[in-house]
Amino acid sequence: MTIALGVLLSGSGSNFQAIADRVLAGELDADICLVVSNKPDAYGLERARSMGIPTACISHRDFPERETFDQELVRTLREAGVQWVALAGFMRILTPAFLTPFAGRVVNIHPALLPACPGIHAQAQQAEYGVRLAGCTVHFVDEKMDHGPIIIQAAVPAFATDNADSLGARILELEHRIYPQALQWIASNRVRLQGRQVIIDGAARSAASAWWTNPPLEPPFTT
Ligand code: GRF
Repeated sequence: MTIALGVLLSGSGSNFQAIADRVLAGELDADICLVVSNKPDAYGLERARSMGIPTACISHRDFPERETFDQELVRTLREAGVQWVALAGFMRILTPAFLTPFAGRVVNIHPALLPACPGIHAQAQQAEYGVRLAGCTVHFVDEKMDHGPIIIQAAVPAFATDNADSLGARILELEHRIYPQALQWIASNRVRLQGRQVIIDGAARSAASAWWTNPPLEPPFTT
């Protein structure tokens, strides 16, 4: 199955680019029908234009209420034939006016191992807190911010010398790997929801005994 995908973004759009590159490579069965930004100067819009992908800009400032902005998003996406929506650095909270029409068909990427560090400062929070394992999460979107059922997470090490930028860059590399993978699982109809649990049909199971520490254990604690 090929999914008719809409991408919502507000900024650089590197995740959108990673998705679009996999589509171009024939590795992700998606048709990116439309890229929408709420910011006219989002670099992601330029990326889309240069790839010949249709774009739209809907400024939230033109709408007095979140709901009317969301309704316009829905109208625009539907007009373009969009069935699934990927949020890729989209900096607006979506209300039921958006989520009800696209129920269960909206996914997001977040630069932390949720439920740790939701919100817009996740990279800085992880660096400042001194976590040893940071990461990213692709999840379904519900009405609470960075909250819906988790499809895939990736962990990266964090070091005492990290700041938001260095850690953010390490996380972003993994974002670009896991987001297209999650979308391809959806496109191949392998993703099922059981309450908060996401089942990915046929996915290999990481060994229950698998673990990773940062820093690495040293002898004799290695055995
Ligand atoms: C990413 O870190 C993503 O996880 C977060 O916003 C950032 C968007 O980056 N939601 P980009 O616009 O895809 O480069």
